[in-house]
Amino acid sequence: MSDRTPAIVVEDLVKVYKEKSSSPVRALDGLSLRVNAGEVFGLLGPNGAGKTTLLRILTTLTRPTSGHVEVLGYDLIDHGLEIRRKICVVLQENSVELFLSVWDNLLTYARFHSIPTHERKERARRVIEQFGLDDVANQKLIDLSGGLKRRVQVAKVFMVEKPLVFLDEATTGMDPINKRATLDAIREQSRLGRTIFLTTHILHEAEELCDSIAIVNRGRCVARGDLNQIKALVERVFDISITFDSISDSLLNDLQCLPLIKFTRNKNTVEMSVKGEEFASLELLSTIAKGATVQHIEVTSATLEDVFVSLLGGSRQ
Ligand SMILES: Nc1ncnc2c1ncn2[C@@H]1O[C@H](COP(=O)(O)OP(=O)(O)O)[C@@H](O)[C@H]1O
Ligand SMILES: [Mg+2]
Repeated sequence: MSDRTPAIVVEDLVKVYKEKSSSPVRALDGLSLRVNAGEVFGLLGPNGAGKTTLLRILTTLTRPTSGHVEVLGYDLIDHGLEIRRKICVVLQENSVELFLSVWDNLLTYARFHSIPTHERKERARRVIEQFGLDDVANQKLIDLSGGLKRRVQVAKVFMVEKPLVFLDEATTGMDPINKRATLDAIREQSRLGRTIFLTTHILHEAEELCDSIAIVNRGRCVARGDLNQIKALVERVFDISITFDSISDSLLNDLQCLPLIKFTRNKNTVEMSVKGEEFASLELLSTIAKGATVQHIEVTSATLEDVFVSLLGGSRQ
């Protein structure tokens, strides 16, 4: 594979789950995307969007119904074994040896992957340092918090130097400290030249970690690009928060008539997202605001959250 070969190519991928007792579920509905070698790629989407299904197909764990997939230049159907040799994966569910220490979990994983004995300890030291696990290295997994266990699970796969790493909701449920350490370590790993494919439903994670993002919804890719391109899709979305002295029924009515992407009210404060190209709505808003007593107004520009809401409309769960 040359440097220019994409790490992953997916074309028109369909996955239909057929359960005997219930109607078929079309988890992937003609999804296409491309992941460049060496990037941190984030697959972002609400629950049930098809993220895990795609990850399981790419890692050869689930067979697609139709479509074309290449991983590291290999066709998925013809060369599943070659692909397996070059990837590692952290699935959504935990798999660690609870009665072994962190240190022994790492060594066992390396042994399982035929890493020579003399290299195992050296790598374990490095991974423990990178993932900030020094203080708990000798503790058994059963004695660690859920967040730390998950951190060990993610750390473990970096004992083996594979060019492509898949992480399914790696930091879901982690407290901020574990999350920070894990995200930093993943970023560090990508600097070493690996391609990282991660799924998340947490926007700011994708925002801070990923070079490139695809947003999926109902088994389809609804947007893709680097962070700036994705943001540019709704570049002119503004989050506006206004606190009034009081909100009369007619003021509330006027506000709710605006073409807003999002509208929430908490006592005398309203929060809304407005598309900037709809100047009319911004103008209207300032007219409405002038007619009432405004205590505080705050305007911020687009975040990925806005992009998400704007692209997925009301379908977000
Ligand atoms: N093994 C399965 N059998 C039947 N339906 C499934 C199975 N796995 C996932 N699904 C369904 O496929 C859809 C996508 O699920 P999933 O890929 O897990 O989404 P995500 O990871 O984005 O939450 C959901 O409607 C889910 O209920
Ligand atoms: Mg999932």
